[in-house]
Amino acid sequence: MTFGARRRVGRGGLACAIVLAATLGAARAETPLERGRYLVETIAACGNCHTPKGPDGPLPGKALAGDWVVEDIPPFRAVASNITPDHATGIGGWTDAQIARAIREGIRPNGSVIGPPMPIGLYRGLADDDLAAMVAYLRSVPPVSNVAEKSTYRIPLPPAYGPPVGQVAAPPMADTVAYGAYLAGPVAHCVECHTPMLEGGRRDMTRLGAGGQAFAGPWGSAVAANLTSSRTSGLGAWSDAEIERAIRTGVSRDGRRLHPPMAFAQYRDISAADMTALIGFLRSLPAIEH
Ligand code: HEC
Ligand code: HEC
Repeated sequence: MTFGARRRVGRGGLACAIVLAATLGAARAETPLERGRYLVETIAACGNCHTPKGPDGPLPGKALAGDWVVEDIPPFRAVASNITPDHATGIGGWTDAQIARAIREGIRPNGSVIGPPMPIGLYRGLADDDLAAMVAYLRSVPPVSNVAEKSTYRIPLPPAYGPPVGQVAAPPMADTVAYGAYLAGPVAHCVECHTPMLEGGRRDMTRLGAGGQAFAGPWGSAVAANLTSSRTSGLGAWSDAEIERAIRTGVSRDGRRLHPPMAFAQYRDISAADMTALIGFLRSLPAIEH
């Protein structure tokens, strides 16, 4: 490496040095705030539900400001909350611990329970440091004054999603499949959308990743794909590059444009290491035919 020997770092050299530093540091040299930004804005894609959208995409100046109808179906009309630090209409008056509890356990400071489709069941598995990073980032975003409509649930919500979570550590990144499962579950909730539901709204864990749920919207109806290793109806015959292109850009193997609600716009910036882990996990899913 000869950077140190150069007398003058030209523009190209500087850019190289920055890229190099970013690559070397990608794993864990980030501050909690940077980590939180990456999680919330990229792989966890909280804005996919919490940022209101218009025909041209996210509404300017309203990032994470809620009042976006996520689902309006017979059991409920779910409207995402304002999760910016605005005191009157967002979560600016909550402590870090209260925000963390809301995300990981689905309980607000006043004791009320956060309803579906916020994937609390999976967020219960968020690691302590990732959760703390998310909270740090949410505190740093611009407060937006925006009153969110209250959700209406015509089904009873549980009193809680389980006992207090306690402490959670993420699997080691070196264990690609286990870390990929952590990303595809608690962090990115890929499996929430891509696993068929049993009656009563529980995931059918015997068919993890087999797809089949339909999501209606302005795009018509998009059916979550089978992500298992099936060579006929899943990803078994796809190359890693084809899977990566679908996740990052929303283009299927045959060139078809994929529809929302998958968060392609955010997934574009998933780190290379996380992409490798995600694909490693998907490859580990036993083939399930439709
Ligand atoms: C699939 C959609 C969805 C995703 C993804 C999602 N949320 Fe939510 N979230 C909601 C909905 C809907 C509500 C309101 C539910 C209700 O009214 O009970 C909510 C409520 C909340 C609340 C409670 C706020 C309040 O004032 O009541 C917090 C905090 C929150 N979400 C944070 C997050 C964070 C952080 C992420 C990303 C890690 C996230 N959410 C991802 C749909 C989602
Ligand atoms: C909010 C729901 C949702 C989430 C979260 C989600 N997906 Fe999807 N995904 C879908 C839907 C719906 C489709 C099908 C879209 C279509 O056919 O137009 C899809 C399509 C795909 C495809 C394309 C498959 C094909 O046959 O073309 C891949 C690969 C994929 N998802 C992987 C993932 C991964 C990996 C994650 C997590 C990082 C993820 N998805 C998160 C809903 C979701």
